[in-house]
Amino acid sequence: MALVPYVQNPLPVLSKFHNSSAEFRFANRDLRLTQDWKKLGVAAVVWDAAVVMCMYLELGKVELKGKRVIELGAGTGLVGIVAALLGAHVTITDREPALDFLSANVEANLTPAPQQPVVVSELTWGVALERYPAGGFDLVLGADIIYLEDTFPSLIRTLEHLCSDATAVLLACKIRYERDTNFLSMLKRGFHVEEVHYDQERDIHLYRARKLPTRRDL
Ligand SMILES: C[S@@+](CC[C@H](N)C(=O)[O-])C[C@H]1O[C@@H](n2cnc3c(N)ncnc32)[C@H](O)[C@@H]1O
Repeated sequence: MALVPYVQNPLPVLSKFHNSSAEFRFANRDLRLTQDWKKLGVAAVVWDAAVVMCMYLELGKVELKGKRVIELGAGTGLVGIVAALLGAHVTITDREPALDFLSANVEANLTPAPQQPVVVSELTWGVALERYPAGGFDLVLGADIIYLEDTFPSLIRTLEHLCSDATAVLLACKIRYERDTNFLSMLKRGFHVEEVHYDQERDIHLYRARKLPTRRDL
């Protein structure tokens, strides 16, 4: 007989991922995001980076009202939902297998209303980018999407496609490994990147990037 009772996840920092929901209050609204770690893994739990991104958006340092915003690797959709509640026109994206779960969370937290125009759609980084308007967004959001080295080139191609010189990119990042900083170095080849916020409690860095003007050789 086991002396220590079975604990599904002994690390308290990870046990929150096994809760069936996560609750927040942003934009004067109570939000409840369904989670399902066992079914969909990383795409079905709310990561600290998303929470820090929402806190930053709520500060009002980024203009959202009426802006065309796209969220990449949205997972449960918390960031896109909050951006919509703050007045943006949001396209919330992720890979195809995550979309039903994402749509259900978006529908549960946003009542359909003309002032909250939101679209949920598939965007696998680097794939079929022509489905999205080139340079067609004012703001690109990504929370905890820099973690798979194999995806770095396609994620950068995606940012290059979605951004014009005037588009702002906001990335909320947990820097876990050296390779994560490699992504930032790769991004800096085509974008001006600056750190605009650091959440010490959750160890989340927030970077703002803007595409460098295209060089015109004479
Ligand atoms: C760590 S989770 C972050 C989820 C959410 N942004 C958050 O912070 O709570 C990473 C997300 O990136 C998505 N993702 C991973 N690889 C992707 C790819 N190649 N194309 C699009 N999304 C991808 C996953 O499906 C997942 O939703």
